[in-house]
Amino acid sequence: MSVEKNNASNTKRGKFITFEGIDGAGKSSHIVGVAALLASRGLTVISTREPGGTPLGEKLRELLLHEIMHLETEALLMFAARREHLAQVIEPALARGDWVVCDRFSDATYAYQGGGRGLDKIKFAELEQWVHGHLQPDLTFLFDLPPAIAGERIAAQGRTLDRFEQEHADFHVRVRQAYLERAEQAPQRIIVINADQTLENIKNKIELTVITNCL
Ligand code: TMP
Repeated sequence: MSVEKNNASNTKRGKFITFEGIDGAGKSSHIVGVAALLASRGLTVISTREPGGTPLGEKLRELLLHEIMHLETEALLMFAARREHLAQVIEPALARGDWVVCDRFSDATYAYQGGGRGLDKIKFAELEQWVHGHLQPDLTFLFDLPPAIAGERIAAQGRTLDRFEQEHADFHVRVRQAYLERAEQAPQRIIVINADQTLENIKNKIELTVITNCL
């Protein structure tokens, strides 16, 4: 987690922006860009991620990314890490008036554990209600890319793959599909970004959306 501090006093509740997409869709550099844009407008920005974002959440992340486990255990641990993250980081930050920029949130559980793993999404709706009630991101960017291109990008990085990245192409096709369905259900909140275009184009679209919708 990183904090970009600004001395301006905040009185209004902050906003919550999330980034989603299949592995290799290229969201990381744009998350840094949005945090910098917000900080340049005098806002204090918390940049964080899921699973993770707290000491306990980062331990759970290690397990989730590398240990074999029952599929339902995986889904429940995602929500457990999220509960901790909300309690320790996200809720206090928003209440202080800070803005939170988060790499993945509950949409990822619908996409990966629902679409990818095939678990029942109705259960996620119950867990979502339990863990974060009516709190939803104010804005979500969904980086959309054909899994074949995303796979090439990951392969070009030449690093060790985690459990999700190691999944077969079909898994990533289902994850992508579930993300797009989620975007159809919440078109006001989830902005689909075609991730198969220049970094500059993507940056411009994201910045314009943040400025228009949030600032
Ligand atoms: P990251 O590498 O983008 O930080 O994401 C870590 C991995 O965790 C990624 O492959 C997606 C996966 N994930 C889920 O399967 N369910 C979730 O709810 C979240 C937050 C992430």
